[in-house]
Amino acid sequence: MSEFNTAEFLNPVRTQTWSNGRHLVRCVKVIQETHDVCTFTFGVSQPMLFFFKPGQFVTLELEIDGERVMRSYTISSSPSIPYSFSITVKRVKGGVVSNWLHDNLKSGDQIAVHGPVGPFNCMDFPADKVLLLSGGVGITPVMSMARWWFDTDSEVDMVFAHSARTPGDIIYARELEYMSSRIDNFKLHMICERNEIGQAWGGYRGYLNETMLQLIAPDFMQREVFCCGPAVYMDAVRKMLEGLGFDMSRYHEESFGETPAKDVRNAETHADQAEEAAEAADSADTVKVTFSNGNSISVIPGTNLNEAALDVGVKISKACGMGICGACKVKVSSGDFEMEHNGGITEEEIAEGYVLSCCTSVKSDLQIDY
Ligand SMILES: Cc1cc2nc3c(=O)[nH]c(=O)nc-3n(C[C@H](O)[C@H](O)[C@H](O)COP(=O)(O)OP(=O)(O)OC[C@H]3O[C@@H](n4cnc5c(N)ncnc54)[C@H](O)[C@@H]3O)c2cc1C
Ligand code: FES
Repeated sequence: MSEFNTAEFLNPVRTQTWSNGRHLVRCVKVIQETHDVCTFTFGVSQPMLFFFKPGQFVTLELEIDGERVMRSYTISSSPSIPYSFSITVKRVKGGVVSNWLHDNLKSGDQIAVHGPVGPFNCMDFPADKVLLLSGGVGITPVMSMARWWFDTDSEVDMVFAHSARTPGDIIYARELEYMSSRIDNFKLHMICERNEIGQAWGGYRGYLNETMLQLIAPDFMQREVFCCGPAVYMDAVRKMLEGLGFDMSRYHEESFGETPAKDVRNAETHADQAEEAAEAADSADTVKVTFSNGNSISVIPGTNLNEAALDVGVKISKACGMGICGACKVKVSSGDFEMEHNGGITEEEIAEGYVLSCCTSVKSDLQIDY
């Protein structure tokens, strides 16, 4: 019997509750959801209640080929099942971490995670009626919300509209069907771009549009909207709702931060191009960013600090890319900068000179302790 099921393990006196920070967790289960999506469930050896706000994420800290890499993943499970938590990961073609997780992470392995954090969650925006819109693996945060409301017998009126490429790509398909079959306040709609030969499909076809929206949720104007999916999907949803006069203060979205080409080129490529960039920058009004290893680069004021570092071959960790997770923290020993973070750094750290490089722009010559 697994230690997770023993009376001793579940003894409430010994049970702790996790909070935002670094935690060592052990993979306890791997579930193949679709051909390219897996769910990984984690627990810890001492009894722990994994409470978080449905929709929040954790940042994994891994060592792959001798390099420390960090990536953020939404917690797809619900805090209503608090003795473990799950993430659901889609393979990204050529992606370092998603493929590593699929190919290597197995039950029993221990990894470090940071979090849970994230402003995109259903607890900070309570509502009686919600519209959950997701595309592809963007289903993870809204699934956590739906599971939470379902498990807690909440009266929240849920309309869930999920878009996928084909019926075979629908993540959690059977669980969603089960949920919608059990309660009246959960209406499920699936939209597939197409179906493959041999796949029966009786749901919506194509892309979510105004006509579909009116059929799926005729009362959408009265709902709080939570949306997550590829950038192009969220752009289309945002434009559609704006065009229909929806009150956008009731629209909430989560971006998985599709990596711009510049971020993912390897450090050598960046180093090769740094000289060229510096020459081009020489003629303009530039400032200099210098790192502890002596490497420096001339950049135009306003340049992102994390990108400037990469351009000179200094790889600072980066995960969420939006100032929440804290993975990209570095110390500035001198110079002016502007930082627009989303809570990933404390006032004390800022007072000590730390910044989140992903959301810091360079204003003058900077000396970075890194
Ligand atoms: C808040 C948040 C929550 C998220 N939640 C989820 C989730 O629930 N599920 C999920 O699956 N994902 C989620 N993500 C996305 C996740 O963090 C990763 O970005 C994703 O898994 C890809 O990581 P990777 O390491 O596999 O790809 P990366 O290695 O980062 O590569 C990304 C892309 O760049 C290309 N690339 C990589 N290296 C190079 C190179 N040297 N030259 C040219 N191209 C290159 C790759 O081919 C790939 O297309 C979330 C992200 C955020 C910010
Ligand atoms: S990468 Fe998450 S705070 Fe910068």
